[in-house]
Amino acid sequence: MAKQEDNFKKVISHAKEYGYVFQSSEIYDGLSAVYDYAQNGAELKKNIREYWWKAMVQIHSNIVGIDAAILMHPTTWKASGHVDAFNDPLIDNKDSKKRYRADVLIEDYVAKIEGKIEKEVQKAAKRFGDTFDKEQFLATNGRVVDYQKKADTILKRMGSSLEKEDLADVKLLIEELGIVCPISGSKNWTDVKQFNLMFGTKLGASAESAMDLYLRPETAQGIFVNFLNVQKTGRMKIPFGIAQVGKAFRNEIVARQFIFRQREFEQMEMQFFIRPGTQKEWYETWKENRMKWHLSLGMGEENYRFHDHDKLAHYADAAADIEFRFPFGFKELEGIHSRTDFDLKSHEEYSGKKLQYFDHEMEESYVPYVVETSIGLDRMFLAVFSNSLKEEELENGTTRTVLKIPAVLAPTKAAVLPLVKKDGLPDIAHQIIADLKWDFNVIYDEKDAVGRRYRRQDANGTPFCITVDHQTIEDQTVTIRHRDSMEQERVAINEVKGIIAAAVDMKSWLQKMS
Ligand code: GAP
Repeated sequence: MAKQEDNFKKVISHAKEYGYVFQSSEIYDGLSAVYDYAQNGAELKKNIREYWWKAMVQIHSNIVGIDAAILMHPTTWKASGHVDAFNDPLIDNKDSKKRYRADVLIEDYVAKIEGKIEKEVQKAAKRFGDTFDKEQFLATNGRVVDYQKKADTILKRMGSSLEKEDLADVKLLIEELGIVCPISGSKNWTDVKQFNLMFGTKLGASAESAMDLYLRPETAQGIFVNFLNVQKTGRMKIPFGIAQVGKAFRNEIVARQFIFRQREFEQMEMQFFIRPGTQKEWYETWKENRMKWHLSLGMGEENYRFHDHDKLAHYADAAADIEFRFPFGFKELEGIHSRTDFDLKSHEEYSGKKLQYFDHEMEESYVPYVVETSIGLDRMFLAVFSNSLKEEELENGTTRTVLKIPAVLAPTKAAVLPLVKKDGLPDIAHQIIADLKWDFNVIYDEKDAVGRRYRRQDANGTPFCITVDHQTIEDQTVTIRHRDSMEQERVAINEVKGIIAAAVDMKSWLQKMS
C-alpha cells in the first residue's frame, strides 16, 4: 500500500515538474479537484483525443462527430433523470467536520478485505511455486473464502440499501463495520443524505428573470437531443453513431486521486443508435472494439480487465467498465452501456417532439435503442502517464527516469541537439528543426552535456533525440537515439523524417486494432 502511494506521489510530482499537469489557481493555494494541463499535458491530451476521434469517427463511415454546448435547456436534465437521481450518498464526521461518500467509506473497507485476500494469494504463490493454482486456491482456502464471503455480503447489502434509498441502513452498516473517520479516528457520524452532483448556474441578467441552469454532468445528452437533427441532415441510416468530446462537470464529494476524479473533466462519448432487439450484439461488438483500441497502445494486456455490472442503472439492460491498473489499483477507465430507448423516449415525453426513425427496410418507425461508449479523457491521460513513468536500473549501475509514452501520443516527437554550441552545429540543428516542424512537434536543446540532455528528454517522454556533431558537417549524417532502448544509430539527415514518421504514424498504431 505504502509503495503504491509512493509511486502515485511520484506520478503527481513528475507531472508537475515536467509541465504536464498543474493544480488550478495554484498561486491562490489551488482549487480542490480542478487541474490545468500544462504545455506538455495539453499536447498529450490533444493526441489522445485525436487517437480516439480517428478510431471512432474518421474510420467509421456511419459515425459522425458533433460539438454541442455545455449549457442546455434545464428540462434536459429532468428528462435524463439527473435532477432526481444523479446523487451520491454523503455522510459527515461530527468531530473532524469532514464529508465523505458513504458508499466509498464502505468500499474502502471492502478494499482492505480484498487486500488481505491478495496477501494470502501472494504467500501461497511463494509457498507452492510453479504448482500454484490461483483459481483453486481462491475457491478452496478457508480463510480466503470467509474473507470473500464477508466482502460480498457487505457490498450486496450496501447495493440493495442504496437501491431502496434506505439511507438509514447505509449508516447502520458503517456503524456495524466500525468504520472510523480517517482524520479524527472517531465513529461520530451524521445521518446519510443524498447530494446532487450537478453544478447550478444562472442564465439572464436580472435576478427575477434569471433561469436556473446546470453545467452538463455528461456530454451524452447533447447527442440525444440532437439525434434527429443529425440523422436527417446527415441522412444517417441505422445503425449509426454520434460522437462527441467535451467538458463535463460534477460536484464530486470525494475528490481525490489527482486527475482521476475531478470536478471539471472531459469525456469522449459515442452513442450508437440501433434497431430495438439488436442491442446485445452491438453491446458485445463495442465492448470488443473498445478493448482493442486500448490494447493497440501496447500498455500491457494484463493492465486491463472488464467489470460487468450486476446492479444496473434504471436505463440500462447491460453495462460494463473497462478497468485499468492505475497506481492505486484497478479502477474504471471507460464505461460501455446498453441504454435501451430510455433517453430518447424520455426526451420525447418531456419535449413533446417525436424522436423516431423511419426504417425503410422494416417499413416502420421506432425509437432507436442506444449502445454508449464513454471514456474520461483525463482518466485516459492518467492511465497513459502513470503506466509510462519508469525508474530503470542501467547496466553501468546508474538509474534513469523515463516516460515511455507510446510514441504516437508523445507531446514532443524529437529533440534536436547540437553537440556543442559552436562550429556551426546549432545552425544545422535549427535547419533540421525548420524542416521537421511542419510534420511533428520538435524542440531544440543546447544546454548541458549531451548525456544530461538525453536524460531530460527521457523524463519528458520524447521518443527521439537527434544529435548534430562535427561528422554532420562532413557527411550530412546525425545520430538518432531511441528513448526506450537507448540505442543510437547514424543516419543521413534526409532519413530522419521517415524514421520519426514510421514510429508515430497514427494509422499504423490504429491498424493494430484489426
Ligand atoms: N454518459 C455516461 C457517463 O457519463 P459515467 O460512468 O458517469 O457515465 C463515464 O462516466 C466516464 O467518464 C467514466 O468511465 C470516467 O472515465 C469519466 N469520469 C466520470 N466522472 C469523472 C470525474 N469526476 N473525473 C474524471 N473523469 C470522470
